Amino acid sequence: MGLVVGVACLMIPRLWLLLASVYRICVEYTPIIYPSEDRLSPVSKRRLSLVGRKTLVLDMDETMITSWLKKSGKKPRNKPRVAHDFKFYLPAYEATIYVYKRPYLDHFLDRVSKWYDLTVFTAGAELYASPILDFLDRGRGILNSRLYRQDCIEMYGTRAKCVLLASPDLCNVLLLDNSSTECSFNAGNAILIKSYEIGSRDEALINLLPFLDALRFMKDVRSVLKHCTRFEFFSTILESVAQ
Ligand SMILES: *[C@@H]1O[C@H](CO)[C@@H](O)[C@H](O)[C@H]1NC(C)=O
Ligand SMILES: [Mg+2]
Repeated sequence: MGLVVGVACLMIPRLWLLLASVYRICVEYTPIIYPSEDRLSPVSKRRLSLVGRKTLVLDMDETMITSWLKKSGKKPRNKPRVAHDFKFYLPAYEATIYVYKRPYLDHFLDRVSKWYDLTVFTAGAELYASPILDFLDRGRGILNSRLYRQDCIEMYGTRAKCVLLASPDLCNVLLLDNSSTECSFNAGNAILIKSYEIGSRDEALINLLPFLDALRFMKDVRSVLKHCTRFEFFSTILESVAQ
């Protein structure tokens, strides 16, 4: 029986795609229940009222989604074998962009948007990123604050983000990003997440929820996050240069 199914899967691409989408639905289902309303004890409520509302700055590519680009007229190479969530044609690139959401992204955005003000900060170009962000937002209005490539700082051929553009108060801003160079100006505010590989079984977003739930109660997020970075040395140099 297993052999027959195996052969059928190899032979019939359509069946393969169907099975892939069934798998996706199973992966999207989340066994971790994080209540949709924020039921807080009076003590927690009081604690929260004593600290500032925080801004969570989210990277897009390889943090929330990973995309794959197909140039028009070219033979596609290495097309991912899982179903995409969204595609659009980008005339400026003469290419079709296929977008793959990281598992649990919708659930993640639902929860964190209750705890934080969200800002998306992507090193991607605006005309590429904005259709994707509109798709991810799904009309909820939670991803309306956006910063793009033109807002990054270029240094030595790489790009870095300065979270001060999203929020002027470093005590109350966090940056979630897969790239340590893009985080390097704000190492003390950064949470590094591993890059999302299309089709991989990935639980990085859902596993971050308890951590992000706790951080919103901090007076200064850096008191915790500075211990989570391997780039303290670099940010110390930057700070001393800035003074
Ligand atoms: C992180 O994501 C960016 C796109 O935002 C990508 O260029 C980079 O290769 C990724 N990985 C790492 C380890 O930086
Ligand atoms: Mg990235």
